[in-house]
Amino acid sequence: MIKQTLRSMLDRTHVYDFMIPNVADELDLSHGTILYLEGITVSFDGFKAIDDLNLYIDAGELRCIIGPNGAGKTTMMDVITGKTRPDAGSAWFGQRMNLLRMSEAEIAVAGIGRKFQKPTVFENHTVFENLELAMSSNKNVFPTLFASLSSEQCDHIDEVLEIIGLNERVKKEAGVLSHGQKQWLEIGMLLVQKAELLLVDEPVAGMTHQEMDRTAELLKTLAGKQSVVVVEHDMDFVRSLESPVTVLHQGHVLAEGSMEDIQNDQRVIDVYLGGH
Ligand SMILES: Nc1ncnc2c1ncn2[C@@H]1O[C@H](COP(=O)(O)OP(=O)(O)OP(=O)(O)O)[C@@H](O)[C@H]1O
Ligand SMILES: [Mg+2]
Repeated sequence: MIKQTLRSMLDRTHVYDFMIPNVADELDLSHGTILYLEGITVSFDGFKAIDDLNLYIDAGELRCIIGPNGAGKTTMMDVITGKTRPDAGSAWFGQRMNLLRMSEAEIAVAGIGRKFQKPTVFENHTVFENLELAMSSNKNVFPTLFASLSSEQCDHIDEVLEIIGLNERVKKEAGVLSHGQKQWLEIGMLLVQKAELLLVDEPVAGMTHQEMDRTAELLKTLAGKQSVVVVEHDMDFVRSLESPVTVLHQGHVLAEGSMEDIQNDQRVIDVYLGGH
């Protein structure tokens, strides 16, 4: 036994447990599922904000999460992004990345991008600079502010500008953009970081109707390439996304299906839609 251990210590090709990185370098989507949450439970002082939650998101899927205030929607996003550690359950990004063993920074670099309700763009920088800064904050890319962008990076920024519809405003300071445009710029900042899964919490709060329509279009365009999970209370907006809907209630999935199924589900009407 000791001999064997000694031999393995002397063997330079031997891989010790501590040498295996927590973060697999590539997202493995071979089973078609980008996010697995199973049996997730989060307690705050004995109160279960998330209670045995199961959620599966397919690669390229657009999914809406709805539910009453306090249902656990934001806490669920906190678990996915590593901000809150659950008391129980498992969380996987693709087949191989165990989110519960990764730090917030590792999760972001691995390709999960989060957009908070309040836009957090750099107001004194132009639209282009915001995208450039976002690109360089991805630790896989050499800081670009001190070096010129490669043509590949420029192309990627152009592509993202097209998707978010801000190519005409590329030289404008972000501070002068409308509320909606700032939200789209922030989505663009996640896209240049090559986020594969985007978590978007209440994107249309404070938007005009026109901006809401444009946001729905934008999120629908992303689906297929990226996976997008949207939390929203505005039912007109949720309807316009034409995506599957998951209803959370008391930290648990109450119902899942098309908006039409959900609207006709008496349990959902009782706990949520009755008031909307
Ligand atoms: N850090 C915390 N400490 C204690 N309780 C918390 C904490 N974060 C959330 N909670 C509680 O957990 C429950 C779920 O909150 P969460 O913010 O996830 O709900 P939500 O579905 O996002 O609601 P809303 O629609 O209002 O945004 C609430 O009862 C909330 O008060
Ligand atoms: Mg919330």
